[in-house]
Amino acid sequence: MGAPGVNGNRRFFSYSPGHQTNRGFRYWFQFLLLFCLALFVFFFIVSDSSLSWLDSYQLVFNRTRQISLFPPYLKAAPKAILTTTPLPSTAAPTGLRYHQGHPSNYQYIIDNPEVCKNQSPFLVLMVPVEPDNLAARDAIRQTWGKERLIQDKVVLTLFMLGSSVRGDVEQQQEKLKQENLQHNDLIQSNFMDTYNNLTIKTMVIMDWLATHCKTAAYSMKVDSDMFLNIDNLVIMLKKPDIPKTNYLTGMLMWNRPVVRSKGSKWYVSEELYPEPNYPTYTLGMGYIFSTDLPEKYVEVSKSITPFNIEDAYIGMCMKKLGLNPSSPPNPSQFQAYNQKYDRCSFSKVITYILGSSKQLVDYWTDLKKPGAPCT
Ligand SMILES: *[C@@H]1O[C@H](CO)[C@@H](O)[C@H](O)[C@H]1NC(C)=O
Ligand SMILES: *[C@@H]1O[C@H](CO)[C@@H](O)[C@H](O)[C@H]1NC(C)=O
Repeated sequence: MGAPGVNGNRRFFSYSPGHQTNRGFRYWFQFLLLFCLALFVFFFIVSDSSLSWLDSYQLVFNRTRQISLFPPYLKAAPKAILTTTPLPSTAAPTGLRYHQGHPSNYQYIIDNPEVCKNQSPFLVLMVPVEPDNLAARDAIRQTWGKERLIQDKVVLTLFMLGSSVRGDVEQQQEKLKQENLQHNDLIQSNFMDTYNNLTIKTMVIMDWLATHCKTAAYSMKVDSDMFLNIDNLVIMLKKPDIPKTNYLTGMLMWNRPVVRSKGSKWYVSEELYPEPNYPTYTLGMGYIFSTDLPEKYVEVSKSITPFNIEDAYIGMCMKKLGLNPSSPPNPSQFQAYNQKYDRCSFSKVITYILGSSKQLVDYWTDLKKPGAPCT
């Protein structure tokens, strides 16, 4: 004689085998119904947004490619792809590891893996340049990239290239090989060399330094359209109070707003970079860093969505590492544009952005002629 409630409960929970099949079928039917509803909702969202069905698919697909959503076991062998021998230029990456901006997705096609071991430089200048811009490389080889010994310190200049995207690629590749045989200063990786891929280029520079040139005290990423007063730079870096680790300096940019107008060369979507401002960063024309940093950038970059503004991206890496870029000892030495050539001011600065390779050769020649630059 139990309480009525217990009996009632029992009845609720006990059923005959016949009822079971019936219920099983009902659950299956409910599931089907829910599935159809979910499908309906999905298509409703897709048709509601301004995107086409294919776009929506791509959006989902692109997002998963760009944002690091890879399982942690991949962290065990991030460099595996780089330890393989260089593939011919036609070979595409065998599949993305981490996001598209991460250097472990790309392989070196032309390399000079021993240059740092042979010379053990104090400073390495890494110059991103387009494969077909031989004029810029030759101007640098005649000017600030010419001397190996500056203020008693070994300085090395190397050019970083991606794969050609224009013209007769095979013929260009052959020319690049010849150029490298002559100068031994080209490093080429198999990502597409385009403006929007500059973050990849910078991260490949970082990867190369981390794997081939860790013994260099300092490195500089310096654009190919720059005037660089290399003597002043080495004098600056030899100062005893310049940090030997975790050091990044150049022309500092504070609280720069992200460009959201779609037509702009510097446009970055909210999806790729949601904050309205960039963290403090050093302007991409030329920034200098202690060579312990590249390895840290490559590692931390696994967890930072890439966007096409390479210098601000390095700023993000710094922020994520809990580090701040440093102001140079004399900030006025890092200049962007100059009004017109003036021998005295060019003898005092470290950087200026130039208009052409011819300007670089002309200004350099004038600067180096005998006689005091400032009168
Ligand atoms: C996805 O990526 C492809 C190629 O990278 C691009 O053409 C396409 O516009 C992207 N789609 C969206 C919705 O971002
Ligand atoms: C950047 O490089 C990758 C790898 O080569 C390529 O798949 C992609 O299309 C390039 N993106 C742009 C915007 O050029």
